Amino acid sequence: MPVLTFMNTCFFDNGVLERLPKVLGRSGASKPFIITDPGIKAVGILDRVLEALQAEPAGIFSDTVANPTEDQVIEVTDLYKQAGADSIIALGGGSSMDLSKAVGLLASHGGPLEKYAAMSDGSKHIKKLPPVIAIPTTAGTGSEVSVGMIVTMNNGRKETFASPNLIPPIAICDPELTLGLPKMMTAATGMDAVTHCIEAVLVPSSNPPAEGIGYDGLTRAIRDGWLRRAVADGSDLEARWNMMMASYEGALAFVKGLGSVHALSHAAGRLHEKKLHHGTLNAIFLPHLLRFNDGAADKKYERLRFAMGLAEGADLADAIERLNDEIGIPQTLKEIGLEASDGPGIVENALADLAHAGNAREATQADYEKIYETALG
Ligand SMILES: [Fe+2]
Repeated sequence: MPVLTFMNTCFFDNGVLERLPKVLGRSGASKPFIITDPGIKAVGILDRVLEALQAEPAGIFSDTVANPTEDQVIEVTDLYKQAGADSIIALGGGSSMDLSKAVGLLASHGGPLEKYAAMSDGSKHIKKLPPVIAIPTTAGTGSEVSVGMIVTMNNGRKETFASPNLIPPIAICDPELTLGLPKMMTAATGMDAVTHCIEAVLVPSSNPPAEGIGYDGLTRAIRDGWLRRAVADGSDLEARWNMMMASYEGALAFVKGLGSVHALSHAAGRLHEKKLHHGTLNAIFLPHLLRFNDGAADKKYERLRFAMGLAEGADLADAIERLNDEIGIPQTLKEIGLEASDGPGIVENALADLAHAGNAREATQADYEKIYETALG
């Protein structure tokens, strides 16, 4: 079993969930509080974790909402404190991970949460958190190793928080937990991982190790065909293993930052009533940004072509559109419920997003307006 110590220590293999008690002991945690969502509870994964734990947790919260809110962070922080817990088991996709990190932050640092937001230079206030043991059940967000979290604040803003102290010190990546993921979720979360790898590589700052990991994640997901295979046959454990690795690698790569695909996806994701999936948004925006950035990073485009198994000079954007089509991702924003009238708000928020600054080519308001109009279809 590979034990990877990179930005955190990750126990990565099929069936590794069984090692949970040993892993907890290693982190010094004895009273874990489990944070998960209703879907994970419904499919029996929470029960599997409780069985593996071999002891009563200090508490369980299983009502995480998609895209956690400040109110929920405050509510769960109170529960965590009342339970006398000393650590958090973050079980689920990106939302459960983000909520867990936010609860760990608020419980140990005190409020208001806004004080720690990255855009207002709050990262410097984020010190050590109680141990968060991350157990992902999707393969895409890479939250189990990422420095960031996103919370929708009570003032309506979707704030990004970023600090090395937000990286869960321990991750348990058991690909068997993703075997039950429906086709559409496999495709959408997989495209989130793909987008992380591509955008991280394209961020202009220099970080060759992170780029190397990004290329490897992309090779795994696309050139080696594991994303297509995981979508085609959800019970293909080898495909699940490789996609969970690609997801982990995508987040390792984005220590470099992300770009305009994420700036636009974060902005569109604020429209809560539309219930838009982050990975699907990325998949739809990605080809348009690949066209926009073409010419700004020629050498990287060459290596990206190789990692995607494309011929010399092939069009990256066209290849992503073909992939989207093959794995059942919609091609336009209209198909997922966005409208022309949503454009101005999305453009405004994309310009204010942390990821905006990492794009390979600087995007102006007019550029975003055009990209949105084209992506709308
Ligand atoms: Fe993402």
